[in-house]
Amino acid sequence: MKALMKVPYFDLKTQYAVLREEILEALDRVCRNASFSLGDEVTAFESEFATYCEAKHCIALNSGTSALHLALLASGVGPSDEVITSPNTFIATAEAIVYTGAKTVFVDIDPQNSNLDPGLVERAITSRTRAILPVHLYGRPADMDALEKIARAHRLAVIEDACQAHGARFRGRRVGALGDSGAFSFYPSKNLGAYGEAGALVTNDDRIAEYCRAARSHGEARRYFHDFIGYNYRMEGFQGAVLRVKLRRLETWSASRKALAQRYGQRLGAARLDMPQDDPRDECAYHLFVVYVDDRDSVKQQLEDRGIGTAVHYPRPLHLQNALANLGHHAGDFPHAERACDRALALPFFPEMTEQQVDYVSDSLTEIIGKR
Ligand SMILES: Cc1ncc(COP(=O)(O)O)c(C=O)c1O
Repeated sequence: MKALMKVPYFDLKTQYAVLREEILEALDRVCRNASFSLGDEVTAFESEFATYCEAKHCIALNSGTSALHLALLASGVGPSDEVITSPNTFIATAEAIVYTGAKTVFVDIDPQNSNLDPGLVERAITSRTRAILPVHLYGRPADMDALEKIARAHRLAVIEDACQAHGARFRGRRVGALGDSGAFSFYPSKNLGAYGEAGALVTNDDRIAEYCRAARSHGEARRYFHDFIGYNYRMEGFQGAVLRVKLRRLETWSASRKALAQRYGQRLGAARLDMPQDDPRDECAYHLFVVYVDDRDSVKQQLEDRGIGTAVHYPRPLHLQNALANLGHHAGDFPHAERACDRALALPFFPEMTEQQVDYVSDSLTEIIGKR
């Protein structure tokens, strides 16, 4: 099969060509001020990203994983506690729980939206449960009202893994600071991506913000006065500068993602596949465009033969990962998450994608898998 068109899975180079002058100027500002760790650009970014998230505080960090870790610590999670989360996510969600010494308790997903099923959360609560950690997977908000209600009834913290959900809205409100605190990743491929590793925690809670500001910098309240053993989780000056340039474009990019997702949705309407469903009351950030297909690996190969790049997010649920074997889970424990991982296929998706590319991918996929 001769490829009619090349469609990469993802592309950051086109965006850089547009932003080049501004980015280089921003990086130059950091060099001239020699503010390589935190500094003015990072402080300004914190204020701008807090405003964007409609949150009181933003603490700039070196990764989304660090943000999850500090969020859990700030909510008092520690050894002998349990934290409930989804098995259908990136390993970092569970790693952060493991770092605190707490136990990860998985609950299956709702197959409609691939997020934590609140109906199953209540049953997983024990006397040791300390927090619920929903993931807004692919940028689609988890059911925060239902989770907040359970959390209030059982006095649990709610920490959002918003690493894929910059700008998403749940019932009109931006995700991130809906619960006690939220973690964002600015890994380069994210909707708002740095030019290296970076992340942030957002919160409306002054106490959490104060703890995290000190914890990211060796537990330091004042220079060289350390109140507790902290971490080196500071954001680099370069990343703050790049993120400020890119944050100004985020709404435009999000609108483009939404339009492309809608086009995919329409164009693939008749194809023999499933898609996670949007709740019309919410706004998805459309980080990835994932479909569920039978015989996924073969479909992936056939798309590749036609010049179309794809990815699998994620091939194996967390409860079946070797790294978490100590939890003692088996295949069949969380059937919806397992089925999602067997069938998930992320199609090419980035704001600069053209409608022709979406149509080519959609038509090729429909040809391969057939119509309903
Ligand atoms: C759902 C989710 N959680 C956590 C992370 C961790 O973020 P980072 O790679 O910035 O540490 C990521 C991103 O990779 C993610 O997608």
